[in-house]
Amino acid sequence: MGKDINGLALITGTTSGVGLNTLKPLLRFGWNVIAVNRSSARAIKIAEQFLTEDEIKNITFVEIDLSNLDHVRKGCSEILKNIKKPINSLICNAAVYKPRLKRPERSPQGFENSMAVNHFGHFLMIHLLMENILSSEREIVLNGKSTLFKPRIIVLGTVTANYSELGGRIPIPAPADLGDLSGFENGFLSPISMANGKKFKPGKAYKDSKLCNMVTVQELSKRYPKEKIIVNSLYPGCVADTNLFRNTPWLFRFLFPLFQKFITKGYVSQRLAGERVAKVATYKEYAKSAVHWSWGNRQKTGRRAFSQRLSKRIIDANTSQKTYNLTRKLVGLD
Ligand SMILES: NC(=O)c1ccc[n+]([C@@H]2O[C@H](COP(=O)([O-])OP(=O)(O)OC[C@H]3O[C@@H](n4cnc5c(N)ncnc54)[C@H](OP(=O)(O)O)[C@@H]3O)[C@@H](O)[C@H]2O)c1
Repeated sequence: MGKDINGLALITGTTSGVGLNTLKPLLRFGWNVIAVNRSSARAIKIAEQFLTEDEIKNITFVEIDLSNLDHVRKGCSEILKNIKKPINSLICNAAVYKPRLKRPERSPQGFENSMAVNHFGHFLMIHLLMENILSSEREIVLNGKSTLFKPRIIVLGTVTANYSELGGRIPIPAPADLGDLSGFENGFLSPISMANGKKFKPGKAYKDSKLCNMVTVQELSKRYPKEKIIVNSLYPGCVADTNLFRNTPWLFRFLFPLFQKFITKGYVSQRLAGERVAKVATYKEYAKSAVHWSWGNRQKTGRRAFSQRLSKRIIDANTSQKTYNLTRKLVGLD
């Protein structure tokens, strides 16, 4: 075995919620971590409140605003230049959700911003780092045991993007649906703001971006053999009290966690969600490509993860191919 026994995991969005709570278990399992955030100073300050000095020494903070494709390119080339070992496990976690917008916010490249951050930024990052990730298979020490670790990419998906689940059919404002993808096809610039080219619906824009995340997982796992890399997604449960909901009305923020805790029983603590993400990024039992891991929508103590059935909108080969090819063009890979 080489002398560097620690594996390297990269995670986006560690200033709050699920990402922040994934750091501790990742470090406990033995990973060195690259934490990608739009402000490293803020990410370090927050990490200092949660982690020990020794833990923080194993994190490299890299600044990337995922809404800006130029930042993604610059940040990824810094990672490739400065970080001397390849990335074994990449976790696409960061996201923005702004359901109250009247008009779409635009990314520096002019795209609707939640699609830009949640899908385009991660899509470009995955592809810029892919060669490096693919080269990472080696023996690393995880939980004190030497393991031949196959490269892995994990994407945070969600129930509201999966039409096969009840939560994916909520009609307010509309279920996730990429339609004919004419919005992407026609360049996705103003006045276009939705993948299907129709009227802007901010809540649906988020759901569509998460649908694109999950579709990307399916397409990547077809394009890259599972002998070389594992690509999968997960739904950690309803983490109803994270900053993701910071742009919802205060009454919603007050009632939603209570509703999830006591009525649907879907509530998951930020800590448990972080633990689940870290395990999917690390443990052998989750090393299955194209699987969307879930612990169900009603939380039960001790329940094991299972492969969640996915809707046609996620697994349909034509949609995933078209979404993938159009996204490649929009982010400037073709
Ligand atoms: N909460 C849930 O119930 C739930 C359920 C299913 C799936 N998920 C998924 O879980 C993931 C984490 O969500 P969360 O609930 O933990 O949300 P959160 O607390 O709002 O965390 C989101 C993270 O993304 C970062 N981020 C936002 N915009 C960014 C940008 N332009 N560039 C770089 N980073 C950016 C945020 O950083 P800043 O501090 O800079 O904004 C923050 O660190 C998301 O992918 C979400 O879709 C959440």
